[in-house]
Amino acid sequence: MIHYIILLTLPLLVFSLPSPDLIGPRTRPSPFLIRSRAEARDIDYWNTTRPDNFLSKRSNVHSIEYFTNPSPSFKARSPRQVSSPASPLINPEQQTKRATSGQWENMSGSGLYHPAVTSWGPGRQDVYYTHRDRKCRHKYYRGGSNPWIPEWDDLGGSLDSAPSCCSRRSGYMHLFCKGTDYQIWHRPYSGGGWGSWQPMGGNCKHYPSSCSWGGRHASVYTSSSDNQLWGIRYDENSGWGSWQNMGGSLAGAPKSVSWGEGHTAVVVRGTDGQAWAKQMMNGNTWGSWTNLGGSLDSEPSAVAWSGNMTVAVGGTDGAVWMRTYTNSTGNWGNWMNMGGDVRPGTAPDVVAWGNQMEVYYTGRDGAMYRKKATNGQWTASWDNMGGSVTTKPSGLAWDNGKVDVYGMASDGSTRRCY
Ligand SMILES: *[C@@H]1O[C@H](CO)[C@@H](O)[C@H](O)[C@H]1NC(C)=O
Ligand SMILES: *[C@@H]1O[C@H](CO)[C@@H](O)[C@H](O)[C@H]1NC(C)=O
Ligand SMILES: *[C@@H]1O[C@H](CO)[C@@H](O)[C@H](O)[C@H]1NC(C)=O
Ligand SMILES: *[C@@H]1O[C@H](CO)[C@@H](O)[C@H](O)[C@H]1NC(C)=O
Repeated sequence: MIHYIILLTLPLLVFSLPSPDLIGPRTRPSPFLIRSRAEARDIDYWNTTRPDNFLSKRSNVHSIEYFTNPSPSFKARSPRQVSSPASPLINPEQQTKRATSGQWENMSGSGLYHPAVTSWGPGRQDVYYTHRDRKCRHKYYRGGSNPWIPEWDDLGGSLDSAPSCCSRRSGYMHLFCKGTDYQIWHRPYSGGGWGSWQPMGGNCKHYPSSCSWGGRHASVYTSSSDNQLWGIRYDENSGWGSWQNMGGSLAGAPKSVSWGEGHTAVVVRGTDGQAWAKQMMNGNTWGSWTNLGGSLDSEPSAVAWSGNMTVAVGGTDGAVWMRTYTNSTGNWGNWMNMGGDVRPGTAPDVVAWGNQMEVYYTGRDGAMYRKKATNGQWTASWDNMGGSVTTKPSGLAWDNGKVDVYGMASDGSTRRCY
């Protein structure tokens, strides 16, 4: 049963006006190499809806190749070619389905925080986690009979948070993390290889959030020691901009999403425990903070698609609550109580593909739970997906109808529900 409840919201004046730059890049990172004129001229299909309706807009994904070449035979470029026997844990046949209860893979590893995931196109997944040695580990899924590279790749770094990653088009990824020196560190992947770690400056408090609105754009947002939101943006033509103070009063990591060219939304949990959102509609100017109310137990999650955006949060009552923004009317719908029994301190995660949406949470019992919606109609009860994880889920729609969910187990291993 779904209840529609409007939470009492008292907008508090906790969100301050932007103050002078407190943080700025200590070293200005160099712009990425533009590999070829052909790529730089690629038409950006981000704003068009595919006929089969797969993921026309995704928060953490962007791939021109996907939109121009929907064929499943699309071949991802990989950082290295490895051949090894298939893992006995995985039946490749089952890997083509969406997350199914009871189908878990122990990907091993020894992590400290929840893993981060992205996809640059169909059949490709990239998974990152911060290892106990404070260096980033990376594995990617390339499909075929031997879909995963066999060992975690050590990407180095000296890291102090969960990583955040996004892809702006096929073959391009941006990896961000809070460093042990509290700066944001960035490592770009482009055209088949990793660039070096770049210090971006900043004074972060929590893990960052990155997103891309199109093939030439990426941005990253972080909560700073001043509790305010700060963002910095990359454009393929002009390189990195400077840090922008976005004000606010944050009590956790921000979540950034985009439904396409020029749009970014950042949703945060304020120090008042309520959800707040800030949006940029035209690629230039940020609107003011919108108080979404609520009573949040952890940082929010969000997904954006075709001019709509859904925010999913874990409430202090242990239930999952969701609220949707519709661009065509400029209105936020009411909070929807989805029920559930969220593990305290862990955020839910919401993913969308086509006309489908799925929301996941980690239960108090360590199992993962899911609800699905088709055209906005939610299933009544939560599916128990099984598993044994201690962190928030990280969901990823990585092909038409394919959703995987990741979490970290108490032994630090990365677990995948597929
Ligand atoms: C999509 O973007 C391209 C270039 O960015 C533009 O020419 C085209 O008109 C846009 N299409 C829509 C439907 O907005
Ligand atoms: C997960 O895999 C790792 C490495 O193979 C292993 O050490 C660990 O015991 C496994 N965990 C469980 C609960 O099976
Ligand atoms: C956006 O939300 C509105 C209102 O809920 C709905 O009518 C519309 O179908 C949604 N758009 C998409 C693409 O789902
Ligand atoms: C959002 O709304 C604005 C104003 O109505 C409109 O110009 C823009 O095209 C819309 N964007 C999307 C993705 O629906």
